[in-house]
Amino acid sequence: MARRKKLTKVVFGVLLGVLISQFSSREECKQPKPAPRVAPAAPAHNLVFVGVMTAARYLDSRAKAVYDTWGRRVPGKVMFFSSEDSYSEDVPLVALPGVDDTYPPQKKSFMMLKHMYDHYIDQYEWFLRADDDVYVRTDRLEELLRSIDSKKPWFIGQTGRGNTEEFGMLSLESDENFCMGGPGVIFSRETLKRMAPYVDECLANLYTTHEDVELGRCVRRFAGISCTWSYEASDCDCEMQVILYHNQSGQAAFSGDLKQKEVHRAITLHPVKQPQYMYRLDKYVKALKIQNYQQETIDLHRGIASAMAELGYRIDHLQEVSLVEGLRLFPEERGSEGYLGDTSLLGLPQSLTRQKPTTLDDVLDWEFISKSLYSYKDLNPRRRIGSSLKEGLGDVVRDIMELINSYSKQRGRVIDFKEILYGYWRLDPVHGVDLILDLLLVYRKYRGHKMTVQVRRHAYVQQTFTGISVREVKNFDFPHISQRPSSTQAVPVHRKIVNQIISTFEQIPPIFHSDNVTKKETINFILPLSGRHEIFKRFLKMYEEVCIKQSEETRLFVILYTEKVEDFNRSSVLIENIQRKYSSSGVSVVTVNETFTRARALEHGLKLLAHDDLTLFIDVDIVFDTKSLLRIRQNTVKDKSIYFPIVYSLYNPKLLNKSYPLDDYAFFNSAIVDEDNGFWRQFGFGIVSLYKSDYVTLGGLNLLISGWGSEDVTFYDEAIKSKLKIVRSVDPSLIHVYHSIDCDINLDVFQRNMCLGTQASMLGSLKQLQKLYKKYEYLFKNLGTW
Ligand SMILES: *[C@@H]1O[C@H](CO)[C@@H](O)[C@H](O)[C@H]1NC(C)=O
Ligand SMILES: *[C@@H]1O[C@H](CO)[C@@H](O)[C@H](O)[C@H]1NC(C)=O
Ligand SMILES: *[C@@H]1O[C@H](CO)[C@@H](O)[C@H](O)[C@H]1NC(C)=O
Ligand SMILES: *[C@@H]1O[C@H](CO)[C@@H](O)[C@H](O)[C@H]1NC(C)=O
Ligand SMILES: *[C@@H]1O[C@H](CO)[C@@H](O)[C@H](O)[C@H]1NC(C)=O
Repeated sequence: MARRKKLTKVVFGVLLGVLISQFSSREECKQPKPAPRVAPAAPAHNLVFVGVMTAARYLDSRAKAVYDTWGRRVPGKVMFFSSEDSYSEDVPLVALPGVDDTYPPQKKSFMMLKHMYDHYIDQYEWFLRADDDVYVRTDRLEELLRSIDSKKPWFIGQTGRGNTEEFGMLSLESDENFCMGGPGVIFSRETLKRMAPYVDECLANLYTTHEDVELGRCVRRFAGISCTWSYEASDCDCEMQVILYHNQSGQAAFSGDLKQKEVHRAITLHPVKQPQYMYRLDKYVKALKIQNYQQETIDLHRGIASAMAELGYRIDHLQEVSLVEGLRLFPEERGSEGYLGDTSLLGLPQSLTRQKPTTLDDVLDWEFISKSLYSYKDLNPRRRIGSSLKEGLGDVVRDIMELINSYSKQRGRVIDFKEILYGYWRLDPVHGVDLILDLLLVYRKYRGHKMTVQVRRHAYVQQTFTGISVREVKNFDFPHISQRPSSTQAVPVHRKIVNQIISTFEQIPPIFHSDNVTKKETINFILPLSGRHEIFKRFLKMYEEVCIKQSEETRLFVILYTEKVEDFNRSSVLIENIQRKYSSSGVSVVTVNETFTRARALEHGLKLLAHDDLTLFIDVDIVFDTKSLLRIRQNTVKDKSIYFPIVYSLYNPKLLNKSYPLDDYAFFNSAIVDEDNGFWRQFGFGIVSLYKSDYVTLGGLNLLISGWGSEDVTFYDEAIKSKLKIVRSVDPSLIHVYHSIDCDINLDVFQRNMCLGTQASMLGSLKQLQKLYKKYEYLFKNLGTW
């Protein structure tokens, strides 16, 4: 299809670095990490050999997902082990001779270990037996393995003993256990050396059908060790359950919210049953890593800033500083690829007083958080804590708790979060977010004098905004997420540029315009019309000026109702005139001789369109300009997104003591969008732009609704529930001109209330109504209570 637009899109990413500055908590987090145990440092490429057990039918799904994500980052080697006849072009594969894909995979497991032993025992220090539904954070795995002496026999995993009933059937001695297979089992070279030569003997003496139990029994018998409770002497039995994390929810595991402390603390995560969740988890883990690097960057910039301050340099002049003649502190220019970023922004020391107000306007006020949000910024002084703030608080609390607990093991205690008792927050675009939180925590000491107490701690948290990164993506149809951009360029931009970007936003659309290689998509207006001749005259004049004269790719379908004969006649004449005036006006009319309902009218129009046509449902009261057309094309994508613009609705001019030149559309084009003139019609969904095919897929409008429509709301509901993306945004050049509406007394209660609500909301702003009331207060005196 030639429809694909070659557009240049600009994607803005705002990167937020999270920093936690100080805790009033008396726990100090400064204690250095314990030195890792001395282990002979293996080069990264032969630290660990990972054997992933899979099956022929999972080679191009699960196995491929493993190899596409963490598999390639193993500090060593990864191989996949499957049945005899397996073949794959996607992953490095060993098809084990004499092994099939039956479950349980005892033979596969033992033969895999034998293969590792036969071919790789001298090359790797560690051996990991993994399943194809496990995710491994390879950097953390490396950290863990390098802290343990691999010369000793180790058999590391999450310990299992089976439940009480099972225990008897597993034929384990009372001092025996096994490492549960799912989340991964780690062998040191010594362990594999001792056990692998006896694989055949173990296979010949299976007591149960559990692969991991038999593995444990074999290791116990020939290597003389059992599954390690914990790799370091710790009083916390849960250690391995934390770092080798198994989630109980089966198929659903890791398919939902990943922002969980279990996910953040783990080295391996199991089970990830669907490949798409493996990729998703991988993206999430990478994002966490990026966050850490950002934090590190900020710490380094702080270090540079404070060191340079000692030397007497001003923080906002570091860009030009030369350390010695000819050697600049920051050699690269801002905007170039090797540019090191903004110390003047990121190097700011943590402090709740880093912004010192000098005038009244500079003072940053706090909002108060408890069960609700108390704020002076909103008409409603107390309101629900919105989901964005809630999520932000959740993130911050998780970070705080990770920090507080990072030395838990050394201290023999864990601290759990209970709730935020209260807090303050404020947001400043330059300095970021400040938070003061009063936290209720539970302190559990499990070593020495054991105890559990509730404690309160104050946390002072600062989140600093990093610079903005702009990525320009060429030839990138943006809802096509799967499509890789052909060329990307990351340009770090200083925050001051934000203002420029915002002010040049208006100039960005020409980028879309300038691409005249492909034809602009035709917008098919469908305009239901019954009566309203004078207003239609204005509409048609506007259509002529904006669309016809400027050769816009548009067509207009007027669905003209005969109900009001006089208006019908005059409107018909107008349409005939314009059709005569322009050889290709693109204006057509459908005459309908029935009772008006908007939904039916739109359907009449849609019948004339092709399946792939882009359409806009419009009202005669709307005034628009070319910018709206641009936004309609940008925000509506076939099979992908539907655009529900929020129009700016003008108040009743009488209340404002104004009169509008109703026939002059240009007057409304320049209407000032402010709180006195009108309001965003947040609850209006009638103006929609979408492809006919998507309309059909969604089942269309409810044609049974007559009178004062709620069909648009119902349709919006359906659209939200569908797979399509909803683009819901204000459009400052879609203006709804005020007209009085009559709410039919015969409407049903729901429709009537909605109609009355709209009527009231269009009357005037709260301020205007208040003025009016004050002025005519005496008229209300005799009305009694209401
Ligand atoms: C783990 O399982 C629990 C309950 O079964 C569930 O609520 C949670 O969301 C799961 N965690 C992840 C990361 O999937
Ligand atoms: C696009 O149009 C401009 C003039 O409007 C013209 O100069 C330019 O060559 C055109 N580009 C292409 C690729 O046709
Ligand atoms: C409308 O036009 C028709 C013919 O076009 C004419 O017969 C009729 O009288 C007109 N009605 C009104 C109310 O003008
Ligand atoms: C509309 O239909 C009615 C009867 O169904 C007829 O009397 C009337 O003339 C029609 N009006 C037009 C304009 O066709
Ligand atoms: C409305 O405006 C006119 C002038 O435009 C002024 O004379 C009149 O007093 C105003 N009325 C009110 C109620 O403000």
